Amino acid sequence: MNLYKNANAPIADRIDDLMSRMTLEEKIGQMIQLPAKEGIVEENYIDRIYDWHIGSFLHCTGKAAEEIQRMAEKSRLGIPVIFGIDAIHGHCFEDKGTVFPSQLSLSCSWDRQIVKEMARVTAKEVRACGIHWTFSPVLCIGRDARWGRVDETFGEDPWLIGELACAAIEGYQGDSLDSEDSILACAKHFAGYGEATGGRDSFEADVSKRKMLSIFLPPFEKAVKKAKVASLMTGYQSNNGLPATSDSWLLREITKKQWGFKGFIVTDWDNVGSLYKKQKVARDLKDAARQGIVGGNDMMMSTDSFFENALQLVQEGTVSEDLIEDSVRRVLKIKFEMGLFDDKRHIPTDRQSEVLGRPEHWDVALDASRESMTLLTNNGVLPLQDMKNKKILLTGSNGDDVIAQLGDWSFGSMQAGHANETYHREDTVTLRDGLKKTSEKYGFDFEYIKGADVLDNGFDETDLVKKRAKNSDYIIVCVGDTIAQHGEGHDRSDLSLTGKQQKLLEVAKASGKKLIVVYIASKPLAISWVKENADAIICCFNPGAKGGTAITEVLLGELNPSGKLTISFPYSAGQIPVFYNKYTGWHSDNEDGKERYIDLPEEPVFSFGEGISYSRFSYSDLKVLTSSIKKGENPQFEVTITNISDVDGTEIAQLYINDVVSTMTTPCMNLKGFHRVDLKAGMSKTVQFTVDWDELAIIDADLKKIVERGEFEVWVGPSSIREKCLKSSFWY
Ligand code: NOJ
Repeated sequence: MNLYKNANAPIADRIDDLMSRMTLEEKIGQMIQLPAKEGIVEENYIDRIYDWHIGSFLHCTGKAAEEIQRMAEKSRLGIPVIFGIDAIHGHCFEDKGTVFPSQLSLSCSWDRQIVKEMARVTAKEVRACGIHWTFSPVLCIGRDARWGRVDETFGEDPWLIGELACAAIEGYQGDSLDSEDSILACAKHFAGYGEATGGRDSFEADVSKRKMLSIFLPPFEKAVKKAKVASLMTGYQSNNGLPATSDSWLLREITKKQWGFKGFIVTDWDNVGSLYKKQKVARDLKDAARQGIVGGNDMMMSTDSFFENALQLVQEGTVSEDLIEDSVRRVLKIKFEMGLFDDKRHIPTDRQSEVLGRPEHWDVALDASRESMTLLTNNGVLPLQDMKNKKILLTGSNGDDVIAQLGDWSFGSMQAGHANETYHREDTVTLRDGLKKTSEKYGFDFEYIKGADVLDNGFDETDLVKKRAKNSDYIIVCVGDTIAQHGEGHDRSDLSLTGKQQKLLEVAKASGKKLIVVYIASKPLAISWVKENADAIICCFNPGAKGGTAITEVLLGELNPSGKLTISFPYSAGQIPVFYNKYTGWHSDNEDGKERYIDLPEEPVFSFGEGISYSRFSYSDLKVLTSSIKKGENPQFEVTITNISDVDGTEIAQLYINDVVSTMTTPCMNLKGFHRVDLKAGMSKTVQFTVDWDELAIIDADLKKIVERGEFEVWVGPSSIREKCLKSSFWY
């Protein structure tokens, strides 16, 4: 038997043996990933499994994946294919997959454990379908709500993104890649993609090396070093004039050399082709292939010109075969580690139906929805009490719209191409379903009127709402956006509520009845009117298939919400960027001395970290346990949190640090720690924070990471709003 086929031999030896048998063509094939759609390999690619020795396919699942795997097994060396898919918030391309809240929604839980559980469930479902790899999580920084993909991020803070991303990666990859419950994670989009100018998807990003090292790379570094992420995906965009795809400083110097990354880097969709077709940094497709390889990408997604061009480049000596070999070794290593050459090559046929959408998976999804619920305001109207014989009027299309609720990358999205009516209706609980189901138990009367559509299609039932409002006690207006208004290539210049949603809100308000707003959207929209006029606001973003149950529980007090925002809400698109870790020094000549536009308040409508609950908490006794630290020492703090209400609850306590004077301008404060603290009514808890020494560092003018001497301020409290935090300081 050939050594590479011997499951008991060390992986390094198996790779050497296999590499010694591979032709150049076979090696290049391992660097290619092509699409297979709707379960079938696109026609012209089918023969390519043999001609081009394709190493990977994306977007096919189940039976089709298994068919391709069997074809690959019959090839000369029988190298298994690795399949990738966008299982972004659950295995949402599979009809029976479990659908979780969007990444943005789930991030509001600030709960590493639930993020990890979401990823474990997804890994089980994905692997059961013969797929080995999800293109998740997204580590882009969501600072521009105009961008169509804000819903895919963990919000605006690099530190929190790194923490939650590690939890997701650990969940996907499990303890061992050859487990039937593990898949590869892919940290994307590497790096700076969310920073595209003007929120224009894939557009030029003005990210210098210093900014890259200070803000955009830290979450990825954590994913590589701490969570050992198996793969990275290069973004579509250019940073500082250089496409991420051809940025060897980023891919080779920083990632592979300095961080010691041992996994492989895949490009985004036809990034290599784009170097020539769109970004115009390559003379032709051959030059583009050269840049892709030399830049440091190991696998090229959906660039079908790559095979011939890469072959020629090596044959004519333009590209060294060593570079190809390094990439191929990385890809093969993962295939060996996953057991794909051995007993994990094929999936047992019945596994898929056994694993997809198990009741216990849906239980995790419901818990995830519950933890994502974020109460933004409440003047006492919630939780609803003494509901017997009361009347609730629910209105707004998002109160009963599966696709708006599930969001992107879930069947109905343009990515998966299903129609609203056909999708996951029976597994999804909309708010309308949730309230209807509960009305009998509580004895309230319930009516749903669509009222207004989120789309600008003229749909207007506000007169009817006005009429019915008279007989209601509570009006719940569900506002937000829907799939046509976000996603790849769907950026917005205006963040106002669309359709007749504002009119609907005003009609509801004018009725004089209690107005509760439920916010189901992919991103923060301009909702300052809602803040001023609603009696309560529940923010859900895209809360997943079980969202309606979780919202209903919050409304009726069965669930005490604990989420906190991970992204700020702007007053208008004109206020963007508006994030809490801002810089100071804006020459804005306002009478109040605040750094702001003359026509807007300084702060956003809602700030990062905000969120209340049915409990009330107080903070006391902030202690710096290390008032003066030495080089390499981790500063430590403690604080006491008390539940001063008579309702049990959970508080997310946040710690922020500021390097008071530094040689470079730095953000006014940065999140460096948090605790989710469960507190029974009337109880107190003292919690400790330890901040890694490294987290105090800045990137200096020479691009060196350095902790500078001097004073550091620390804030601990319920959000990034400084006035609500306790403050102290320490010295290095
Ligand atoms: C394009 C997207 O930018 C990326 O996030 C996704 O993983 C790939 N296409 C594959 O679908």
